[in-house]
Amino acid sequence: MPGPHPPSSSAAPGTDSRSVDFHQTSGPVRFNPYTEEFFESPYAIYRRMRDEAPVYYSEELNFFALTRYDDVAPAYRDFATYSSARGVSVDMVNATKLKMPKGRVLIMMDPPEHELMRKLVNRVFTPRAVAGLEAMVATKIDSALARVDPRQFDVVSDFSALFPMEIIADMLGVPTEDRNELRRLLDKGLERQPGQALPTRESIDAMIASGTYYFELVQKRRRQPQDDMISRLIDTEVIECGEARRLDDVEIAGFANMLGGAGAETVTKLIGNAIVVFAEHLDQWRRLRTDRDKVPAAFEELLRFEGPSQYNVRYSLKEVTLHGRTIPQGSAVMLINGAANRDERAFPDPDRFDIDRERKVGFNLGFGYGIHSCLGAALARMEGRIALNALLDRLPDFEVDSDGLKRVNMTNVIGWSHVPVHAL
Ligand code: HEM
Repeated sequence: MPGPHPPSSSAAPGTDSRSVDFHQTSGPVRFNPYTEEFFESPYAIYRRMRDEAPVYYSEELNFFALTRYDDVAPAYRDFATYSSARGVSVDMVNATKLKMPKGRVLIMMDPPEHELMRKLVNRVFTPRAVAGLEAMVATKIDSALARVDPRQFDVVSDFSALFPMEIIADMLGVPTEDRNELRRLLDKGLERQPGQALPTRESIDAMIASGTYYFELVQKRRRQPQDDMISRLIDTEVIECGEARRLDDVEIAGFANMLGGAGAETVTKLIGNAIVVFAEHLDQWRRLRTDRDKVPAAFEELLRFEGPSQYNVRYSLKEVTLHGRTIPQGSAVMLINGAANRDERAFPDPDRFDIDRERKVGFNLGFGYGIHSCLGAALARMEGRIALNALLDRLPDFEVDSDGLKRVNMTNVIGWSHVPVHAL
């Protein structure tokens, strides 16, 4: 698979050369978020969608897509129009035969179920609770880096693919010996064949296997509680319609399984994306090395510029008319936060990566927005800060070995499975 395009000599300093003069600069706008072109660099097609087709419709895969900041941000907040209850990927929202048990997984709930469940699990993820995890997170990151050869290693497969799962697994209470297999199942479950929204049989089997694994783990913890999140969720009472009840095994297993996907895949990709982006902007990496106070701002800019979570899909509960185009009730609508974050209507000079960017208009939508906005944002920011600092220490100057770069082909996220680097 080809790596990113080499910086073009005509690109302005700091500009994302991969987004300039890429595929499809003319002809009808055609967008398929499962193709190699998309994974390689979706930003040129996003621009055309914002400008020429702000309400895009894919006949091929039967979904609408919103890309402008002023359309995407309000849609994320408008849960009365845009429902999450059928899932957040194209295949799930369009799967008429797939009857998901309603109200089982947080990310696939609408109010009032969502509000209740979110309150319940929020306790573990408040900034204060997360601050208490800092020592554990730092240890996981340090020990992952201690195992690599600092002169030459793969930032994703040797490092960022490993520590986020370790952190979540520790929080949930997953035994050490099961973690590698769970990571493999998670990757397999999100994988898609080129151009295809539907998962393969192998992907479906992987999703079922990880769900079953957590279901059995919940049952084990019910018999023998430990000091972990699963045991605490078993113990927690929720008040529903005025009555107290406890979460059942399917609800707890579903939540645990979702945390793996939501929390591990994304941080893995953010760090891989970071290294590739900084390799193209080494001046900013060097500045960051000497001014570590800028690390949190750099994290935010990475999230905006090349965030791992590019879009989430909703199911429209009402007819919506935008820019003269009607989206019928009952449609799959893709809210592309990755495109909104590059909208020049909200972010001046949006294709420029700039850790000193001043944020005047537009929130960063990299963590979503509204009721479903990322529950793990404080944890992700902490992991990102510690991991970037650790990499700045070990790779003060580096080059990416572009021949070895490899992208993932997954639903909802973009990023790399391999980012080999060598120290200079
Ligand atoms: C850089 C890393 C991360 C990014 C870019 C990210 C991004 C997102 C986005 C965009 C959403 C909104 C989904 C939607 O609207 O349908 C979301 C939701 C969520 N994220 Fe994250 N996430 C990250 C890390 C994490 C971590 C570390 C955890 C936990 C360990 C986590 C847990 C969740 C959960 C549970 C939800 C669902 C919240 C709800 O439905 O109320 N995320 N994330």
